[in-house]
Amino acid sequence: MSYQPGRHFLQIPGPTNVPDRVLRAMDMPTTDHRGPEFAGLTHEILDGLKKVFKTTADVIVYPASGTGAWEAALVNTLSPGDRILMFETGQFATLWRGIATELGLEVEFVPGDWRHGVDPAGVEARLKADSKGEIKAVAVVHNETSTGVTSRIGRIREAIDRAGHEALLLVDVISSLGSIDYRHDEWGVDVTVAGSQKGLMLPPGLGFNAISARALAAAEKSTLPAAYWRWQPMLDNNARGYFPYTPATNLLYALREALRMLDEEGLDNVFARHRRHGEATRRAVRAWGLEVLCLQAEEYSDALTAVLLPEGQDADRLREIILERFNMSLGTGLGKLQGRVFRIGHLGDFNDLMLAGTLCGVEMGLAAAGIPFTRGGVAAALEYLAAES
Ligand SMILES: Cc1ncc(COP(=O)(O)O)c(C=O)c1O
Repeated sequence: MSYQPGRHFLQIPGPTNVPDRVLRAMDMPTTDHRGPEFAGLTHEILDGLKKVFKTTADVIVYPASGTGAWEAALVNTLSPGDRILMFETGQFATLWRGIATELGLEVEFVPGDWRHGVDPAGVEARLKADSKGEIKAVAVVHNETSTGVTSRIGRIREAIDRAGHEALLLVDVISSLGSIDYRHDEWGVDVTVAGSQKGLMLPPGLGFNAISARALAAAEKSTLPAAYWRWQPMLDNNARGYFPYTPATNLLYALREALRMLDEEGLDNVFARHRRHGEATRRAVRAWGLEVLCLQAEEYSDALTAVLLPEGQDADRLREIILERFNMSLGTGLGKLQGRVFRIGHLGDFNDLMLAGTLCGVEMGLAAAGIPFTRGGVAAALEYLAAES
């Protein structure tokens, strides 16, 4: 490959573009993570994270990808053979199910069509039928990154309450935290699982668990084998400003900066920005005569849009052409959607002109790939952005 001038457009739905301010913040000498200054950094980060998760409870920061944080949520709260209710909303829900199964949990996996989120009425009915309380946890992916469908966690909480069921609620917000409104405390979530590389605008490498008092109590009884992922040593060390093992020090500098940036913009403004970009993108897709994969308007994802191509068209070929011709990466179709959809990431450090450039790249790519479509998607998006500024 020869040099490609200009910035690469990284429009996959995570990892997202890392702002220059965050890159500069990481560009620091490695520090003594047991030294006197480190505690100040830890405390600032742990306080800042609470605001983003909307919780007063503890948030654990692991040097790990999101997959590690998934595992941590399970091994701290459950015991071998425990029944867990999970939902086939897409590829990431399927992967989380795989981990639960490997850990020796009894997974009840509710089938789905990868075009809808979790149905709150279905949750209520299933839990009401569980009169013996065999289901110990309900696990939901908030924003299914493989499909661009956002499940309604508040409604799912209400469904659990209506059923009067004691199951823990575990929620994956890996591609929604810092992009789509999320409320750990208000929605009574017991473990929220997150990662650094999406709405938090950081490189990959940090995983998070926000934990409720009920989850902490469950951790005392849980007998799944765990060592690295155990919450208690982390909480004991964090209270003094330290970690039980070497943290990802430079990523923590980055996290401190990203939290300051989210605070400066204001979380409500961050969510409104994502909402606006999500709607503009969907208008572009419809104007092109293509289909948004998500079928239910109230479940549209404001972090990414999965676009379904007409039968017989290869979405990966389109992505290759766009990468080669316009130096832009789009998300591939995952699992059973491979080749059928491409995904436009519009989350993280992102603005109107970046969206305009992204949509221009898609529109030019559709033409270059010879895919039947109607021109005018970019114009439809710009019209909306101008009217909603
Ligand atoms: C919703 C969701 N859950 C889990 C994961 C897995 O996270 P990681 O790849 O960081 O292990 C991802 C990754 O994209 C994701 O989008």
